[in-house]
Amino acid sequence: MISFRNKKVDIDLSNKCTLECPMCARQELKKLNKKVPGGDMSIEDFEKVCDYYGSDEEGISLCGPISDPIFNPNFIEILKVAYRKNKKVYISTAATSKKKDLYWYEKAFDANPNATWIFGLDGLPDKSWVYRINQDSDLIFDAMKLCVNKGLDTVWQYLVFGYNENDIDDAKKVADKNNINLVITHTSRYWSDLYRPTKEIVKKTIKEEMKVFKPKCLSGDRPAYISATGQVLPCCWVDKPTEDLLSTDKVLSKLNIKELNINNIKNIEEIYEHKVYIKFYNDLKNQSKDCSSFCRSKCSTTTTNIKERYGKLSRKS
Ligand SMILES: C[S@@+](CC[C@H](N)C(=O)[O-])C[C@H]1O[C@@H](n2cnc3c(N)ncnc32)[C@H](O)[C@@H]1O
Ligand code: SF4
Ligand code: SF4
Repeated sequence: MISFRNKKVDIDLSNKCTLECPMCARQELKKLNKKVPGGDMSIEDFEKVCDYYGSDEEGISLCGPISDPIFNPNFIEILKVAYRKNKKVYISTAATSKKKDLYWYEKAFDANPNATWIFGLDGLPDKSWVYRINQDSDLIFDAMKLCVNKGLDTVWQYLVFGYNENDIDDAKKVADKNNINLVITHTSRYWSDLYRPTKEIVKKTIKEEMKVFKPKCLSGDRPAYISATGQVLPCCWVDKPTEDLLSTDKVLSKLNIKELNINNIKNIEEIYEHKVYIKFYNDLKNQSKDCSSFCRSKCSTTTTNIKERYGKLSRKS
């Protein structure tokens, strides 16, 4: 049996978000007239997560692909659980709501002084909302400053788009002045010319030669994922609600059973001890013909790719 104990996990704590970032998977679902699946993870299920995943280096990432974690009604309690159980949590948030003022953020920061907060503010506060549609960008900026002042690990994640590419130097000054760790992040997700940067220099490219099938879930390059429906999955790529992979892919659909859902188990060990998971990982390890064709296409290539480099989280010295 392959163990993922103390390894990183990524969780969609809920299925909600107030923002409408154009390149988010939520918008794809909307275009297809599909609902965002799932709901809110319970405190009890989050305790199971803490009892199994996460270590000092790896942590528990609250940055699922379809939601903003602050909308789980148990969010503050969840932060307390992680603190009590001594598990490092990384919170990625960009969304705002009229119901959550600065006082609410203060309570959230106090709930877990060891947490790292990554704020999605794509530009200075007067422009971030161009991509982060519906965002109260001033509130996010104030929350970010409060987070630093309270001594928590704080990251300003700045995605570079056409509308904000000329403001990076100003953002650096603002970040320095407020002692914020600014991470400039380059993305290849521009589905509209409004967001496409015009300057070449903002694109850092790397060449990557991949000639073999190398499952990233086994190499540790891709964390395990728990969806908003509670399904424990080998990575978030296999849960593509827009394509319904978990129903249509012959191999991946086997992972979509109630026995592999966090709501129906006592502890996470049960998941990886299940015969379906043992076979799934053995097939990946042995590169068996039974591996999913989706996995093969996602985790291998025979060409030389020019890949966009994404900003990495790093402490400023
Ligand atoms: C779906 S979001 C969930 C977390 C939170 N709602 C947020 O937006 O930060 C997951 C990650 O995708 C990032 N993201 C959103 N739009 C992106 C884009 N066009 N390119 C690259 N990353 C993007 C977010 O900044 C976040 O780090
Ligand atoms: S804030 Fe995050 S989850 Fe919400 S729409 Fe934007 S990218 Fe998606
Ligand atoms: S796509 Fe398949 S092989 Fe690749 S990380 Fe995800 S589960 Fe593993």
